[in-house]
Amino acid sequence: MPMPRNKTEDDITTEALQRFAGTQDPRLREIMLGLVKHLHAFVKEVELTEAEWFQAIEILTEAGRMCSDKRQEFILFSDTLGVSMVVDLISHRKPDGATESTVFGPFHRLGAPELPAGGNIAHLDKKGTPTLVSGQVLDLGGKPIAGALLDVWQAQSSGLYDSQDQDLGGELHMRGKFRTDAEGRYLIRTVLPVNYPIPSDGPVGAMLRATGRHPWRPAHIHFVVSADGYDPVTTHIFDRTDEYLGSDAVFAVKDSLICDFVRHEKAEGDARLGIAPPYYTTQFDFHLKPAAEQGATILDAQQRLAALGAAE
Ligand SMILES: [Fe+2]
Repeated sequence: MPMPRNKTEDDITTEALQRFAGTQDPRLREIMLGLVKHLHAFVKEVELTEAEWFQAIEILTEAGRMCSDKRQEFILFSDTLGVSMVVDLISHRKPDGATESTVFGPFHRLGAPELPAGGNIAHLDKKGTPTLVSGQVLDLGGKPIAGALLDVWQAQSSGLYDSQDQDLGGELHMRGKFRTDAEGRYLIRTVLPVNYPIPSDGPVGAMLRATGRHPWRPAHIHFVVSADGYDPVTTHIFDRTDEYLGSDAVFAVKDSLICDFVRHEKAEGDARLGIAPPYYTTQFDFHLKPAAEQGATILDAQQRLAALGAAE
């Protein structure tokens, strides 16, 4: 039976679904059929006009233009639409005692230096308040994991990442890789994290303004923690006192990731690496679960993603 020529909206949906139904790869078939079904339903539900459709094409074109070795507008769209966190939650559905994950974000860069325990990732930041982050990397039974790798990155006290800071001329800053010692311990010197607005000079910023949303993210420090034989975790730690914890522009806050940053007005105990007060300390233990049988592919995907943002 030939398809009728005077097609209705639903005829087009049916035909498009039939056209993709022969996709060989079963997962690709599932994804394409789901995409066409929901995309068509969305367009029909809001009765998208031709002018709105063209505006959407312009927005996506502009998003593509904004992307560079230092800017990833599509990740920002995914993050601010809440899609990144839905994907995160689907991928880490079962509570299993491991440290909870959150968004990777658009600011990771390859090539962060390996630093010794207590190494300062904020050596060029003269305005921030010195802060020590310490803790252990442990397995689910509480056994220390020696030699675990913590890849750390953070915004400067100006609220800008190094890649956004013209004065740095491409130099890496506020980034480091730390290894745990025999007791699974790590120690990072940085400055107190600050809240910052996500870049709002592109189409994502325009969307936030048009919809009455703010672009702020609560203060946080990014981590990817990995160790041989364990699933890596991509996460942040957040400052409990931040005013944006309840309205993070990218929906990334989880209760278990909120930390107390304790202010010290005078040098205490071990004099803490000779840092002059005032300074802050915070403590967070990471718990890793044994590697999944099919092997960890999260890190590979993240390396590819990071390569998009790698300033060479
Ligand atoms: Fe961030």
